[in-house]
Amino acid sequence: MTDIADVLLVHGGTPLEGEIRVRGAKNLVPKAMVAALLGSGPSRLRNVPDIRDVRVVRGLLQLHGVTVQSGEEPGELVLDPTHVESANVADIDAHAGSSRIPILFCGPLLHRLGHAFIPGLGGCDIGGRPIDFHFDVLRQFGATIEKRADGQYLEAPQRLRGCKIRLPYPSVGSTEQVLLTAVLAEGVTELSNAAVEPEIEDLICVLQKMGAIISMDTDRTIRITGVDKLGGYTHRALPDRLEAASWASAALATEGNIYVRGAQQRSMMTFLNTFRRVGGAFEVDDHGIRFWHPGGPLNAIALETDVHPGFQTDWQQPLVVALTQASGLSIVHETVYESRLGFTSALNQMGAHIQLYRECLGGSACRFGQRNFLHSAVVSGPTKLQGSDLVIPDLRGGFSYLIAALAAQGTSRVHGIDLINRGYENFLEKLEGLGAHIELPSAVPAAS
Ligand code: EPZ
Repeated sequence: MTDIADVLLVHGGTPLEGEIRVRGAKNLVPKAMVAALLGSGPSRLRNVPDIRDVRVVRGLLQLHGVTVQSGEEPGELVLDPTHVESANVADIDAHAGSSRIPILFCGPLLHRLGHAFIPGLGGCDIGGRPIDFHFDVLRQFGATIEKRADGQYLEAPQRLRGCKIRLPYPSVGSTEQVLLTAVLAEGVTELSNAAVEPEIEDLICVLQKMGAIISMDTDRTIRITGVDKLGGYTHRALPDRLEAASWASAALATEGNIYVRGAQQRSMMTFLNTFRRVGGAFEVDDHGIRFWHPGGPLNAIALETDVHPGFQTDWQQPLVVALTQASGLSIVHETVYESRLGFTSALNQMGAHIQLYRECLGGSACRFGQRNFLHSAVVSGPTKLQGSDLVIPDLRGGFSYLIAALAAQGTSRVHGIDLINRGYENFLEKLEGLGAHIELPSAVPAAS
């Protein structure tokens, strides 16, 4: 990954065409790396993308005495937790600011060391993103939590015990918290109203390879029978369905044709249905999925985000750019995060017509209804987009701005592109390979 200055010049109007490859999922790989902490021997993780979130976790693991080395094949990491040790609080703090992953170190460190420190967390500004569920479940396992100015100090006075937990909402992070804690806890843990995203299933596969006993029932109930010891694992991470869908939306919005090597139909079924409803075309083969704009007008749709197997919230922002090119009124109801539509103001600046509402439009009432959150949008199209100055707000919002700039007439200056490195591997090289007319910052004369 090249350290790049932070502004990109995008000359729009060229359909993206060609092939890109997606590697392991940003929302699984860092968690599988944390899981290695639970093992009594080394683990081997394959299909690891070169993205910022992986680097942050690699640094945090090394701070705790885990050796992390590159394996034989490209994208392979060998993680050895034999000499896990406490890390210096200030070092953890310095490492953690930009990600939410440190919260998932709790369970493994409590099992290995009997204590853990959690600094202030980062992550995308798309809602309040509280971590109350995480601390509630850790207390139920028997951990004590002390909030201090610099962070949370956790202790496990004795071995953590399995328990019965019902999550108030099927949160991905809290489900992972329970999985990474319950596998070595004493007795059985029954988790209901759990998240069942494909990344959760893949993490369960990792833990099962280590020796864990985990069953998934049909009604979002996961049962974990704690064991005394876990070994290492060898695992190939599932491909990133969020990155794959982002490139699919880019193909649609730029009237292009992109083959996404590594994309898997199984984990993207809901996205593929929606893509087809909008008027996009796709073809699945054994190695990936081709996405293209078949020509002609796109269809306005009603879209509601939800937990898996619903429409994934991280697919929403890139697809909304394509919906600005659809004929008629599209309705978007964001039910997972209360403030994930703020990015649309910049699209309106480019010429889109997007109106935000506090009501739960086009679908069922959600947690944010009757509260002061602009979490629904009406997109009327098609509208011509004009190049503009854009400042990246968060990871998916950032990628959607790149798509908008590529679909627009004229030139855009996109600020803060470094943030996109958090979740999109080599995105600049991929854009150039697809024929995008972009100029890297160093070549861009400073704004007068
Ligand atoms: C994971 O975040 C992903 N991040 C997110 O992807 C993704 O959007 C999200 O799951 C939902 O699928 C990673 O895996 C690193 P949650 P996470 O706990 O675990 C509320 C991306 O762009 N909640 O499922 O943080 C919360 O506020 C990122 O790739 C509580 O109220 O998400 C939110 O409204 C963005 N209290 C909802 O649950 C808690 O303690 C879903 O959050 C925890 C969550």
